[in-house]
Amino acid sequence: MGKYNFDKITDRRGTNSLKWNVAEGELPMWVADMDFETAPEIIDALNKRVVNGIFGYEDIPESWYEAYINWWGRRHNTVIKKEWLIYSAGVIPTLSSSIRKLSTPAENVVILTPVYNMFYNSIRNNGRNILECEMKYEDGDYSIDYDDLEDKLSKPQTSIMIFCNPHNPIGRIWDKDTLEKVGQLCLDNGVKLIVDEIHCDITAPDKEYVSYISLSDELINNAVVAISPTKAFNMAGIQTSAVVVPDRFIRHKVWRQINTDEVGEPNSFAIAATLAAFNEGECWLDELREYIYQNRLMSEKYIGENLEGISIMPLDATYLMWLDVSCITSDSGQLAKHIRKTTGLYLSAGSHYGKGGDRFLRINIACPRTRLEDGLERLKKGIDSYGDL
Ligand SMILES: Cc1ncc(COP(=O)(O)O)c(C=O)c1O
Repeated sequence: MGKYNFDKITDRRGTNSLKWNVAEGELPMWVADMDFETAPEIIDALNKRVVNGIFGYEDIPESWYEAYINWWGRRHNTVIKKEWLIYSAGVIPTLSSSIRKLSTPAENVVILTPVYNMFYNSIRNNGRNILECEMKYEDGDYSIDYDDLEDKLSKPQTSIMIFCNPHNPIGRIWDKDTLEKVGQLCLDNGVKLIVDEIHCDITAPDKEYVSYISLSDELINNAVVAISPTKAFNMAGIQTSAVVVPDRFIRHKVWRQINTDEVGEPNSFAIAATLAAFNEGECWLDELREYIYQNRLMSEKYIGENLEGISIMPLDATYLMWLDVSCITSDSGQLAKHIRKTTGLYLSAGSHYGKGGDRFLRINIACPRTRLEDGLERLKKGIDSYGDL
């Protein structure tokens, strides 16, 4: 028995929760936030901040830099220099600002698909062209199609690649070799690499991720890396993150654009929550990782025993299970709709994540175990009845 109680049933209805804005009786297991209260250490810190009663403009204190530097040093064996760090209200704001500054309209941005759907929005909304490099999916495993990637990076109109590590939605932690290969291809082709590492702290208990920031100077000097405590500590609504940009010229550009876009100033809770997470949240996080791991084992067992033919991608990181439902359909959008309509279980169709996603479902397992049981039973019911249509 751990110190923290992740079995506690939380009620998020009526809290303006995006995830829980669903009909009575529905069970949302879609968007990437968790049904757990954040660490009590963070709640205490925020309570103290509230009691102060004044919510004026804030500076970024020295302790904010130290918190990031120490966490990455201690947990991820990665050196971050203070001057590399820039505050940003979120990872997606960072991506969008970087796209605006490091490319011009109509230039190409390369992504490895299937991938987090907001990457598409950030590129498209800024008038850039999306080049989807679909990952190879063979024998239940993904790999990068380097010939295709090189072809797309070498196009004269390609200026940026966005890379997700760990990769949402496939749950993969990319190894050092892969990071170096992708980084080198970008460098060789004059393409800037934006790396989204927001899921890096939610790894399986026996897994560690390799940060892009830990690679050679030459490679990191061509990159913009977005990091944040918000996914791991379930506080996306606080809107706080950091950007690591080792090269001073690129850093200046990214900093200017974040500033121009007015996403460079912290709200009254951003700093307090970040400090509490990185300085006091370690035990909570490790217990959370274990709990999610057990949820995953339970899900694998249930699906293995009850849903023949459906396979699950090994989950190195994230709490988002990626289910191969190709034995049932090549249109996961229809299947997801059917499951929601017949059982109330709301999960994400793989088709939201672009090329290669349409034979998959994504299911968020970061919830108390009894809720997960309910979700898995609904999943079975929905899938079993799909064949009857
Ligand atoms: C890969 C990835 N990047 C970014 C985000 C969102 O980041 P933020 O809320 O800091 O904009 C998410 C949220 O699900 C995500 O999965």
